[in-house]
This record gives sequence, structure tokens and C-alpha cells, in this order.
Amino acid sequence: MNTVIRTVDENNIDINVIDEAAKFLREGNMVAFPTETVYGLGADALDESASAKIYQAKGRPSDNPLIAHVCNMRQVERIVKDIPEAAIKLMKAFWPGPLTIIFNKSDVVPYGTTGGLDTVAVRMPANKIALKLIEYSDLIIAAPSANTSGRPSPTTAAHVKEDLDGRISMILDGGAVGIGIESTIVDMTTEVPMILRPGYVTRSMLEKVIGHVEIDKAILGPSGDAGSDMKPKAPGMKYKHYAPKADFKIFEGDSHSVAQKINSLAERYSSDGFKVGIIASDESIMRYENSDVVSVVSIGSRSDELSISRNLYKILRDFDAEKVDYIFGESFESQELGQAIMNRLLKAAGYQIEHV
Ligand code: TXA
Ligand code: MG
Repeated sequence: MNTVIRTVDENNIDINVIDEAAKFLREGNMVAFPTETVYGLGADALDESASAKIYQAKGRPSDNPLIAHVCNMRQVERIVKDIPEAAIKLMKAFWPGPLTIIFNKSDVVPYGTTGGLDTVAVRMPANKIALKLIEYSDLIIAAPSANTSGRPSPTTAAHVKEDLDGRISMILDGGAVGIGIESTIVDMTTEVPMILRPGYVTRSMLEKVIGHVEIDKAILGPSGDAGSDMKPKAPGMKYKHYAPKADFKIFEGDSHSVAQKINSLAERYSSDGFKVGIIASDESIMRYENSDVVSVVSIGSRSDELSISRNLYKILRDFDAEKVDYIFGESFESQELGQAIMNRLLKAAGYQIEHV
């Protein structure tokens, strides 16, 4: 299959390009498009055979449900059974935006889209290209991240091409995304709302709007108080996701000791002939300047967490492209957006973290 790639300017959208993409979607085909979080791989959410194509293109396990992307409340009402009062408050406060809400699904949503569940994940993305595509196609669009299963989520159209070229009909290139990690998921079908995946919309932001919110302990990882046998409630969170090809280990502790430890490991592994990558921050990168045989990159500034989330997956992909064998990285504060950042870093590292 030839994958058509078209550039779209979010502030000056060429409707002919949207029309071309919408046609593919209405014919049951796949189109990748930008959102404010990561690029999505879209297909008609209410057409079981269209969403089946997504699973095939990504190599995604069929029990891992897709998020339905909408552009207005009418579409939400079509696919959900009931809308709790608190969910209305969340939609008003955070949509369009990086928050996915779990509802009980209506009968029009096929089990092929929800991985067999009676619930459906719904999100209204804050990207004009995405919203225009949903509106113009007049479809509810199922869209997981547009990476092949197990690879870091794509934050540019080039990442999508790397993974899915020749397997999907079209890629809309709207430039690099703003947030860089996937949306927060909150389950509103339970007595107490529960965060199933941390993201840009943090627990405290949610609690300001609807009061107490729980957080699924399993997402804190096997090293947390959860124990390793806890099953995450978002099926996708149980898979080894976001993983670079290299062996990735994170170090926490005071900045000086962490740099010392990483430098000594980097020296040892590179003198053994391995390719080593180091994930530093703007504040610490000068501590690694002596290591000229390894790739040292800054993931962003500790005083600007958004710069970190935006760079995270790109850095992992770049290390893959360089065929790095070992990655040693710093750890970050796990409050607010930092909680989502550490969640993704720890998953990518297979939860290998050492205190120095
Ligand atoms: O930011 C995002 O959410 C991006 C963009 C493209 O919108 N999409 C995304 O989709 O990250 P995906 O498929 O990579 O992740 C969806 C997650 C999975 O962990 C899945 O298990 C969970 O959402 N999920 C979907 N439906 C669910 C449901 N009914 N109950 C619990 N978890 C659900
Ligand atoms: Mg994904």
C-alpha cells in the first residue's frame, strides 16, 4: 500500500487535504493524524472491520481497547450509556484536551473497538487538525498511538512513517506535538473516579473539579507498594510499552552522585565496546561533558516539565536509531506532570531504578 503523506498547517488548514483523509476513513481505511499528546492512528470506531485493521497494522493485542475520539457532545451521547454528573464537570473543564474518560458504552460501539469491554474510552483532542478531521468525516474515530506495538509513541509524522509506512492509507503531518506523552485516563464508571494512566492532566487538577480521585496502584509499578502481581485496570498498561531497544536503567539520588555513577558506568561499558547513551537534563548536562565516547542528551529543563515530556519519546527513538546498547538516565520529581514522566520512563526502563 502506498502511504500518502500530506503536511497540514494547524493554523491554516487546507480543507482539500482533510477531505482526502476523511474519504479514506469513510471507506474503512486508516489515517494517522496529530493530536496535542501524540500522533494517533485513526479509523472508524463504529466499524468493527476498520478497527480490526488498526490492531493488525500496529501488531496490537486484541484485548487492548482503543480510545474513541469525538469533536462534540452529540457524538459522546451516541456512544455512551449514561453520563455521570462528575464526568460532565470534567468534560467542561478539560475538553478539548489531554483527558480520556471511561464510560459505560452504548450498543453502537462494537466490542472489536473496546477489546471486549462494556466500557468505552472517550476523548476530545485539542488539536485543530484532529478536530477538523473528526468533524469533516462525520465519524467517531478510534485512535491508539500511531506506533507499532511496543515502540515509543510517535511525537512527529516522521516517527509514524518509521513504524507504519506502507501499512496505512495516509499520514497528516502537523509538525511536532506539544505534550509528547499520552492523555490522562480517568475511569468514571466506578464509585470513586480512578486514574488508570497519568498524563498532563494531573490528579490535583482533577480533584479541584470533582473532589477525591483514586489512582490505580498498579501504574506506580512493581517497585511501588502495589506488589508485582497487581493487574492494571487499563489493559494497555500491562504490556511492556514505550520500550527502547537498549537496556535502560534510571538512577536517583543527589545530582552529583548520580552523575558520578552514570559516568563511571558509561566509561566501563563503552570501553567494553558497547554503545552508551545518557539521558541528562539542562541543569546537569555539563556534568557529563567529559564522556566524549557516549551520546549525552538533555531531555529538557527540570524547571519546565513540559519540555521533558515533549522530548521523552523522541530521545528513546533517537537512541534506537543510533543502535545504543545501554541507556543510563537521571530520574525526575514524581509530582504533578512529573508523575506521568516517571511512569513512562520507568516503563521504558522495565522498572530498573537504582538509588545512589
Ligand atoms: O493521548 C492519547 O490518549 C493518544 C492519542 C492518539 O489520543 N492515544 C493513546 O491510545 O494513547 P493508546 O491506544 O495508545 O492507549 C489507550 C489506553 C490503553 O492503555 C488502553 O488499555 C486504555 O487506554 N483503554 C482504552 N479503553 C479502555 C477501557 N474501556 N477501559 C480501560 N482502559 C481503556
Ligand atoms: Mg499506545
